[in-house]
Amino acid sequence: MKLISPSLLSADFGNLQRDIEMLNESECDWLHVDVMDGVFVPNISFGQPVVKHIKRHARKPLDVHLMIVDPGRYVNDFKEAGADILTVHYEACTHLDRTLHAIKDAGMKCGVVLNPGTAVSLLEDTVQLCDVVLLMSVNPGFGGQKFIENTYNKVKQLRALCDRKAPQCLIEVDGGVNTTNAPLLFAAGADVLVAGNAVFKSENPLETIKLLKQ
Ligand code: DX5
Ligand code: ZN
Repeated sequence: MKLISPSLLSADFGNLQRDIEMLNESECDWLHVDVMDGVFVPNISFGQPVVKHIKRHARKPLDVHLMIVDPGRYVNDFKEAGADILTVHYEACTHLDRTLHAIKDAGMKCGVVLNPGTAVSLLEDTVQLCDVVLLMSVNPGFGGQKFIENTYNKVKQLRALCDRKAPQCLIEVDGGVNTTNAPLLFAAGADVLVAGNAVFKSENPLETIKLLKQ
């Protein structure tokens, strides 16, 4: 599968509706929504009230990436705000199995996110529950960072794990994705690519989304 999930973190927050409408018209598949609490990651982005407004204008699934401590506490809040896919960090969950079940029980698709320093093998006992696993290809917290090359190895490892244990699970990659590394990531086995700066800082975002998908 080749899906694109542009990250609204790089959109113009003063013109969010305009940027969401551009994405509605584009060939992208999901809208990636980065929630940061200033504790799990050094940066603060926005929370449920903003997600609710994004949902009012979006005509594609909201792929909500929680970069917050103890995300299990907020599962129902993000369901109410309009998340369709909710991903939580492995590093932020003491009871990951419980949190994934809570997301599913709330009626959303669920996923685990791994930081660049967290091994794919740690997913042996949870990948069966996942609709998606998100591999960070930068250390989370900011848009516009440089892609970490070791991600290709992790995508291949995760592909092998999913083939063995979780054929339903999509592999998503987030951070520093651009039109140069996108074809290599898809070839390595990725299904969904997140792109922030590559889309929103490009001269022609619609064309860039089309290129990323090819
Ligand atoms: C980083 C976020 C990413 C970010 C990607 O912590 O999770 O989704 O917006 O931005 P780019 O594509 O610019 O690296
Ligand atoms: Zn993200």
